[in-house]
This record gives sequence, C-alpha cells and structure tokens, in this order.
Amino acid sequence: MERNTQAVEGLDVRSGTHGATGIALVRLPGSLRSSGLDRDVRRGLVGPHKHLPPKYFYDARGSWLFEQICSTPEYYPTRTESALLACHARGILDLVAPGTLVEIGSGSSEKTDHFFTACEDLGLSVRYQPFDVCDEALRAAAMRLRARYAWLDMELLVGDYAVDLPVLPYSEGPRLFLFLGGTIGNLNHDEALTFLATLRDTMRPEDYLLLGFDRIKDKRVLDAAYNDAEGYTAQFNLNLLEVLNSRLDADFDARHFAHVAFFNEDEGQIEMHLRARRTHEATMARIGLVTRFVEGETILTEISRKFTPEGMRALLEAAGFRWCRHEEAENGYFSLALVSPT
Ligand code: SAH
Ligand code: AVI
Repeated sequence: MERNTQAVEGLDVRSGTHGATGIALVRLPGSLRSSGLDRDVRRGLVGPHKHLPPKYFYDARGSWLFEQICSTPEYYPTRTESALLACHARGILDLVAPGTLVEIGSGSSEKTDHFFTACEDLGLSVRYQPFDVCDEALRAAAMRLRARYAWLDMELLVGDYAVDLPVLPYSEGPRLFLFLGGTIGNLNHDEALTFLATLRDTMRPEDYLLLGFDRIKDKRVLDAAYNDAEGYTAQFNLNLLEVLNSRLDADFDARHFAHVAFFNEDEGQIEMHLRARRTHEATMARIGLVTRFVEGETILTEISRKFTPEGMRALLEAAGFRWCRHEEAENGYFSLALVSPT
C-alpha cells in the first residue's frame, strides 16, 4: 500500500482506505485525466472547427488560476452565489436533513463552508464527498477543511462527472448533491440533459440536488467577466496549451495564441477561444500528431451557457427532476435551484 499513500504538505491521504486523518481518496474510473485526451485531441484538434472539452483546464495551475478569476471584480458569479448560500444554507439543511453532502466539481470547496458553518450552528454532523477531476484541488481543499472543521468526515472522489456518476461510492443519506458555480453551463444542451438524467438515476428518493446557475444578463457585464483586467482568464485559457505540452509532449507556443471570450447573444453562451496569431504548426510527439493553424483560426476551449429560471426549470424537468425551491440574487445575476428526483 506504500505506493498508494500520498502525502501533500502534511495531509496524509490514502487511496481507497481511511488513513489516520479519516480522509480517504478514491480514484474513480474517469480519474485517468489523460485517458480521454488522445481521443479528444484527435477529434478536436485536427481539421476545421477546432475544440477541446473544458475539463483539461484543471491541472494544479489551472485550478489555481480559476481561484484567481473568482476573486476579480469582474467575475461576479462566485461572490453572488456565495451570498445566496450564506442566506439559504441553513434553510436548505433544515429541509433536506442530509447525512452526506456530495459536491460535484467541488474545486476549492470554499462556498461549501456556508453549509459547514450552518451544520455547526444546527449541531449537525455530515459527511462530505467532494468530487473533482483535479486531484490537487481536492487535496488542497481537504487540507483547508480539515484545519477548520476537524469533525468533518471526508472522502475525496477523483473522477470525471461525465462518466463516473453511476459508480459514486455509497454514502448514508439523505444526500444533498451540490453542483455550484454555474458549471452546468459548461455543458452543451445534450451533455447537460444526459448529465442531469444520469445524476437523477443515481439519486435516492430522499436526496436533493442544489444547482447553481448563471443568468442571462447585459452583454457588457458578461463580456467583462470573461476578460478581467488582470488577465487571469487569459492565463487560464492559455494554460490549456501547457497542459497539452506536458501531457502530450507537445510544442504549442502560447505566444502564438490570443485569448478571446465574448457573449454570443443568439446562443445565450459565453464562448472562449484561443485564436492563432499566425499560421503555424504544433506537434504532439506522444501521439505522433501534427496540427496546423491558419492565422485567425480558433480553438473553442469552453462554452459557458447562461439561463433564465424558466429555461433551467424546463431542462431539470426534462431530466426528471421536480423543481422545489428557487433563490435568486436581487440583481438577477445568479440563481440556486433545489430539486428532488421524485
Ligand atoms: N464548484 C467550484 C468550482 C467550479 S470550477 C466553484 O463553484 O467555484 C469547475 C470545477 O469542476 C473545477 O474544480 C474542475 O476541476 C471541475 N471539473 C471540470 N470538469 C470536470 C469533470 N468532467 N469531472 C469532474 N470535475 C470536473
Ligand atoms: C467553472 N465555470 C463555471 C467557469 C465559467 O464561468 O464558465 C469557468 C470559467 N471560465 C472562464 N472563467 C471562468
């Protein structure tokens, strides 16, 4: 077992077993981040209309850059959702009475603190299963949470929510699933419907899902949120090339690309691209692939869909959920929906 014991800055996390800290780390089948990369690169980087799935942003540096984005004045979703959670976490806990919080795409887990502090106020003890593709983000979050909430029983799940929902490890219910940050918007309509329907199928009747979703608003506010003045979003976008370089032994040169992000009003989505500044080629030595860019050509690296409450309700109901509660920011910038699988 020595090989599976991972110590990160004092946090002893044991794969699949409970270590002295009571924190376990489980690698789900989709956790092999590079396993789908070859296929996604062959599909997405050869030929016209280049695109890659956004999950590859999140290596250790990508997750750190995302956290920096969250603190910029332009990126309103994090602070708006956090304020909503501060108001409503306690009421949601009262309603759901969860034994376990399962957080999908948990990242730094910072906003989840509103639930943990509410648990302390209510004298409630819960188990926490953060689930993320980025193992470094999970470990950093676990270290912070262990120091702040010594009572919290944690099981870290490393995996891909597009494939691992049906194999989530058992946990005592009722379970409150959290999918925050507006991450649902990073899936296109069909992916979101499949994701939600699959999640619903894994849920037990007493479980709930709390979904954070970003709202359609003034294009200027949206454009600014994805083009922050400090340039963190640009670095986040360009970091994808470094991920490709390290995982595929590739030679993408970030200086040959520019960050481009804008709200496409017809599609109701932010589109984030890397635009080639000049015509050039890049080689991915590990998979023996060369890709060619013409000046001005782009790679679509992310969509971030924005919703109306009615549109989100229709999507959730199409996936088989019952709409129970809706909380929105006063300025209508961001919403939380609490839904049940029954
Ligand atoms: N929920 C946090 C983080 C949002 S960022 C917040 O609201 O601030 C999106 C998170 O989802 C990142 O931590 C990223 O690593 C994770 N993620 C992205 N694609 C994923 C996938 N396919 N499976 C699991 N996690 C994923
Ligand atoms: C994680 N996700 C909800 C973020 C978003 O707003 O779509 C990712 C992001 N991309 C650029 N900035 C933030």
